[in-house]
Amino acid sequence: MKVSFKELGLVNTREMFAKAIKGGYAIPAFNFNNMEQLQAIIQASAETKSPVILQVSKGARNYANQTLLRYMAQGAVEYAKELGWKKPQIVLHLDHGDSYELCKSCVDFGFSSVMIDGSALPYDENVKLTRKVVNYAHKYDVTVEAELGVLAGVEDEVSSEVSHYTKPEEVIDFVKKTKCDSLAISIGTSHGAYKFTPEQCTRDPKTGRLVPPPLAFDVLKAIEKKLPGFPIVLHGSSSVPQEYVDMCNKYGGNLPNAVGIPEEQLRKAAKSAVCKINIDSDSRLAMTAAIRKHLAENPGHFDPRQYLKPAREEMKKMYIHKIVNVLGSNGKAR
Ligand code: 13P
Repeated sequence: MKVSFKELGLVNTREMFAKAIKGGYAIPAFNFNNMEQLQAIIQASAETKSPVILQVSKGARNYANQTLLRYMAQGAVEYAKELGWKKPQIVLHLDHGDSYELCKSCVDFGFSSVMIDGSALPYDENVKLTRKVVNYAHKYDVTVEAELGVLAGVEDEVSSEVSHYTKPEEVIDFVKKTKCDSLAISIGTSHGAYKFTPEQCTRDPKTGRLVPPPLAFDVLKAIEKKLPGFPIVLHGSSSVPQEYVDMCNKYGGNLPNAVGIPEEQLRKAAKSAVCKINIDSDSRLAMTAAIRKHLAENPGHFDPRQYLKPAREEMKKMYIHKIVNVLGSNGKAR
């Protein structure tokens, strides 16, 4: 049975992005696949009155079950209201859709936004596939994110060894032909907790920490010039907080040389045409670090609520920090 996102109380990204570009901030797009992540995201968004994009990847959909996820998103809207957020602005978005069929199924299932990732295809095929998804999604007022350029790293089933920056000379033609609503670009971010090899980084002499190379802001600027006012999306934007990496490692983990995108660079991007910033790994790290710590300190605990509660609190703290100090979206959905 088909269901429209409007019946679920969700919104698409159109208005949200237009406001974000004008206001010089970005909307957080947080991935989720379980209840505690969702609770933490909604609590953080409701407290800060930030619009939010709930992202579900193909892998998450397989993990959690698509029906359950839809009702969780619907429940999230009601929960947000219960928390005192009168007009929640919540998007349910498919992250990295890899086929027309998957995108169509999400549109039919109540998603308010889908991504079709044809970035690994030859240009003309990417255009054709994206256009097909847009044609279907727009019939139901569902917005579509497309991608040009290739990110390195692993995101569920999508992976690439090397990155290729988006070519600014292609973006006008791509957007015109596909009619997509937003465009994910490649300017040096990548998926996962290992965004750069130690060889690509320098080391901070004081702390001994890896310092990653800067993002290609010149490419971003060139794209903005070609597409003034058009919503740009940054994937792979976890900053991989070193306190979580240290906490994981201290309590039995083994995450050598995990490194992410420095938050100052994300803040700079958020002030530009970048109006959606994707964060997944930081939530995974916060959750795992808190669980490892709790179980190491309380070896007798075996009730999941005992260790999931601090994990949820840690995630919520991290989400609020991103919203307020990095993306600047707090107070934008009153
Ligand atoms: P991170 O792995 O940097 O969190 O990126 C997530 C992402 O881009 C999801 O599409």
